[in-house]
Amino acid sequence: MEASFDTVARAFEPGAVGTTVRLHGWVLRSRSSGGILFLVLRDRTGSVQVTGRKDVLGAEAFDAAEHVQNEGSVSVEGTVAEDPRAPGGCEVRASRIHVIDAGLPFPIWSGQTEEFLLDKRHLTIRSQEFVTIFRLKAELLRAFREFFDAEDVLETTPPILTGNAAEGGAEAFEIDYFGQPGYLSQTAQLYLEALLFPNERVYALTPSFRAEKSRTPRHITEFQNLEVELAWCDLDGLLTFIERMFVSVVHTVADRRPKELASLGRPPEELRAIAAPFPRLTYGKAIDRLKAAGFSVSWGSDLGAAEERALTLESNVPLFLTHFPRELKAFYMLRSPNDPRTVEAADLLGPEGYGEIVGASCRETDVDRLVARLKEMGVDPAGYEWYLDLRRHGSVPHAGFGLGIERMLRWMLRREHIRDTTPFPRTPSRHTP
Ligand code: 4AD
Ligand code: MG
Repeated sequence: MEASFDTVARAFEPGAVGTTVRLHGWVLRSRSSGGILFLVLRDRTGSVQVTGRKDVLGAEAFDAAEHVQNEGSVSVEGTVAEDPRAPGGCEVRASRIHVIDAGLPFPIWSGQTEEFLLDKRHLTIRSQEFVTIFRLKAELLRAFREFFDAEDVLETTPPILTGNAAEGGAEAFEIDYFGQPGYLSQTAQLYLEALLFPNERVYALTPSFRAEKSRTPRHITEFQNLEVELAWCDLDGLLTFIERMFVSVVHTVADRRPKELASLGRPPEELRAIAAPFPRLTYGKAIDRLKAAGFSVSWGSDLGAAEERALTLESNVPLFLTHFPRELKAFYMLRSPNDPRTVEAADLLGPEGYGEIVGASCRETDVDRLVARLKEMGVDPAGYEWYLDLRRHGSVPHAGFGLGIERMLRWMLRREHIRDTTPFPRTPSRHTP
């Protein structure tokens, strides 16, 4: 049915008044009084008021149109007319309204519980707020891809079904792979490292899965992980790349979608004000700062949401936390050349207390150290033979990071809960609809 018809936006174009339009769409709301039907019709480009008179449409068609529920679907033919009372200053006066699906009463209205709305997520995603959020998400992904193209970073497609739990077995979803143990990918990193050797600069946007039973406003069990791996790169080079990327994509979205951002409570100027370089703070100094603020932490403490929040609550720019203790981090991270206790790693914390958005590190290039680290963690290196091979055939210094798209959006769009940055959020208690 790719028939030729008009978009709602067309009705608001200069010169549209007096012309005939043919629209297809969904009814946002409707009412009728005194033989006139008022309905608001939406399509992907916006919404417009449509009026239909019984004497024009005919009694039967009028009656059918009157019985269309909210979110029912119709096609309309009519003339664009100026009307200062209508939203946007014009309306469509219908000569014909054809009901495609009148629909049952729409079950979503204001005041319903969060649980009910999550059960009906397949319908709640039609709201203007969700439409705006997911368009901004698409805009952000487009901005990332444009940045990587400009920087000559190649898009690749690593697997989701894997034989290794790369970020620690406890948080991996294990699956039965035809009788063999398998895992849903927690990170594409190990595969990106393999793809780096023939391509030098690679990235992938893949779903990552974490079997964490954390019920927090920043955890979901499936998220979009944007991961980059760069050859010939040290920690400073990596952080400079991340800053450049972050500023570029945030400015691009602010420039392209200012109205949508503002409608969600994020003035675009706040995003335009983000500039490099971002402050950098070592883990050691962060511990000192947190102690001074009354937190009971010491060297070796894992910094959680509360600590991350305290470090950036007062700040409008992101913060790099660097040089974590080795024991806190994954096996593949490069030991710091000047301090064997720490690794060449950094987390980027979002402004305003939003917490970790990016996890980054230089990669260990020495086979023996990698093997020793796996053994220390109680992991059999045999399962990682293919990964260790990468260090046996032209190993080079390299570094990379993963950025949680939904974490970034939670900050950018000022959302209370991460689940509202993804259409069908997966949490410990929910993987349906
Ligand atoms: O910090 P993480 O665990 O790092 C890695 O997986 C590395 N292998 C990435 C790499 O270097 N290629 O995860 C990366 C990012 C985090 O900074 C966070 O933004 C996001 O992924 N993330 C989550 N987002 C939502 N829900 C969760 N449960 C998340 N876990 C991580
Ligand atoms: Mg992390």
